[in-house]
Amino acid sequence: MITIAFYNLKGGVGKTTTAVNLAYLAASGKKNTVLWDWDPQGAASWYLGVEESDTKAIKVMRDGLPVGSLEKSTPYPRLTFIPADLSLRKADLLMGDKKSAKALLKKIIQPLGENASIVVFDCPPTLSPSIEYLLAAVDIVLVPMIPSPMSVRALTQVSEFFEGKKSAPKSIVGFFNMVDMRRTLHKQTLENAKYLPVPVLETYIPMDSAAEYMSQKREPLTRYANLGRASLAYRKMWKEVAKLIKEQRKQNS
Ligand SMILES: Nc1ncnc2c1ncn2[C@@H]1O[C@H](COP(=O)(O)OP(=O)(O)O)[C@@H](O)[C@H]1O
Ligand SMILES: [Mg+2]
Repeated sequence: MITIAFYNLKGGVGKTTTAVNLAYLAASGKKNTVLWDWDPQGAASWYLGVEESDTKAIKVMRDGLPVGSLEKSTPYPRLTFIPADLSLRKADLLMGDKKSAKALLKKIIQPLGENASIVVFDCPPTLSPSIEYLLAAVDIVLVPMIPSPMSVRALTQVSEFFEGKKSAPKSIVGFFNMVDMRRTLHKQTLENAKYLPVPVLETYIPMDSAAEYMSQKREPLTRYANLGRASLAYRKMWKEVAKLIKEQRKQNS
């Protein structure tokens, strides 16, 4: 099982949009995939058209409820979903110190490996202790950035935060979203990506109004706008991410 978290300290950069689309593409590519929403706002449930759960997500951490009991089916083969709700705000209180948090996360995430080969986490834009521990526990952290100084700075902040820490993500990789190459700032930012402290995916997602309709359509964009610009870019991005997954599997074995 490979675990991937979508994360940026900044909101509105495309974490949820990308998490939903790449999870959908992974499942379409015959991988059993779980999309696990860790953002109490629950935007991923909305985008995916799945109803929120009646069981509070916090019970998995607090009461030892098996995480599988929160797993919901989606309209898509091989893709299941674990919804978030506001109870997750209390996650920090339950994690304890780093060592016990690590053990707790291992205990709740590991059972998913029985059925899933990929678990995708959609994270909130905070660096609270529970998110720090989650990021440190996953195989790959993917950081979406809008080509603006603040959003790029957030990537540097995440990378610096984990620098030299014993518990750090195995791999942090950035990528650009909502790109408009007609804008000088966007073009320059992408050209300068090589100077960032972590690798950046070659594929970027262009600005595409079709993406904005995801909250209305409540379906992955790669499904309803299959031949749109952002959709095609997500397919290309999935191929690149699949290579990262392959490398990570080799390292883990
Ligand atoms: N490639 C894109 N082009 C245009 N709008 C986009 C694109 N990707 C995402 N958006 C829009 O940007 C907003 C924020 O996206 P979202 O994925 O919810 O960000 P986050 O999870 O980082 O807060 C949403 O309204 C979404 O529809
Ligand atoms: Mg989000």
